[in-house]
Amino acid sequence: MAKKLSPSDFRYETGPSRVPWTAVGEAIRLNETQKVLEFLMPPADGRASEYRRRLARVARELKGLAEVSGHATKLSLGRNVKELEAETARFLGCKHVSFLTNATAGFEIALRYANIGPGDEVIAPAITFIATIAWPLAVGAKVVLADVDPRTINMDPADVARKITPRTRAIIPVHIGGYPVDMAPIMALARRHDLVVVEDAAHAFGGSYRGRMLGTIGHFGAYSFHEVKNITSFGEGGVLVTNLPIGARLSQARFLGLDLSRKIPNWLYDVVALEGKRGPFACNNSSSTEIQALVLREQLKRLPRIIARRRRAAEYLSARLAGVAGVITPPLDSARIRSTHHLYLLRVDPERLGADVQIFKQKLSARGVTNIPHFGPLYKFSVLRQLGYDTAAMQAGCPQAENVFSRQFTHLPLYDFTQAQLKYMADAVIESVAEMKAGR
Ligand SMILES: Cc1ncc(COP(=O)(O)O)c(C=O)c1O
Repeated sequence: MAKKLSPSDFRYETGPSRVPWTAVGEAIRLNETQKVLEFLMPPADGRASEYRRRLARVARELKGLAEVSGHATKLSLGRNVKELEAETARFLGCKHVSFLTNATAGFEIALRYANIGPGDEVIAPAITFIATIAWPLAVGAKVVLADVDPRTINMDPADVARKITPRTRAIIPVHIGGYPVDMAPIMALARRHDLVVVEDAAHAFGGSYRGRMLGTIGHFGAYSFHEVKNITSFGEGGVLVTNLPIGARLSQARFLGLDLSRKIPNWLYDVVALEGKRGPFACNNSSSTEIQALVLREQLKRLPRIIARRRRAAEYLSARLAGVAGVITPPLDSARIRSTHHLYLLRVDPERLGADVQIFKQKLSARGVTNIPHFGPLYKFSVLRQLGYDTAAMQAGCPQAENVFSRQFTHLPLYDFTQAQLKYMADAVIESVAEMKAGR
């Protein structure tokens, strides 16, 4: 019996046929499966020969499995992507979710919706990863940097207010390290000036602010599942969310604007521009794979435990460092705010220690404590100078960012440590600070 197809099935499901066509050109077979396994689970140091013996056993079992298996018929944008999106929407309590190649692609879709182009201004925090402003730079919009709140190194809403002009079109708050930006004043400014707010929630999947999940408070939010994040979709991946009506079209926005909802006469499917805030916008391709979605669906189940473990590590560090003069610990969770504890923001007070964070970082490294590569202020990057920005003026406009970056803060890792490693890290901080106070 012919299967009932929805119009959007046209790409791959051609129905019963005497000469069938499968979507996947060359399915993943035994060799690829074993290579993936070896890639994900390489031999541990010094255990190569035992590894090879055990792998040979697994390879025999895989061969047996292959004898009774069919092959994959869908590798891109299939059931797992759909299920992941539904699960994510439930978890976040938002209407529309799209799984993408990465968070940067999510910002792009949101800013295409805002019709950002040359002459428009977009406000972003001075301290973030370059991905936050990649799309405004690419289309020749003007990036305006807001100064940061030194307690969190997040965007300072008061400075955002000072930097709004008649040309401002969008604000991109970034929840650095998973700690929530103070979103209420940002959203009030957006309402007053009719601006689009795109939350850079790359670090913030699972955190909340006043009872709402981070990333769902602005008009759009994008999360990253790159391999260094709290959970990953096999190395790369992102999710874009929105509650705006455009959300019903997010799957089109992800795939070049193909209109798969209409009946397709004679295989001529339509390609459309979507309706942006100020006019139509064309779409790019940021489609993601079934395997990435499958992996992320499993990692999602572990997320609450991962965040809880990170929170306990942060609480331990803060408790150990609480009374240490010259060390400033970050704000932790409260009744109104829950971080994802992606990074631990540690500050030193150079006035009390007689030396700044550059010396502190050297002392930690000498003790074998990793300083996570962290975010330099954007005005220090060549790309801005090359594009004609007056970076000296930008720096002068962000005095807190400059001070906190060059003199005060570092990020410590929080996961996945034993209690002994955490204790070692806290001891290393305390000893380093003692040396600095003693002028050593
Ligand atoms: C603050 C911030 N924003 C955006 C991104 C970009 O995420 P993705 O690599 O998924 O595009 C990152 C990635 O590290 C990030 O740290």
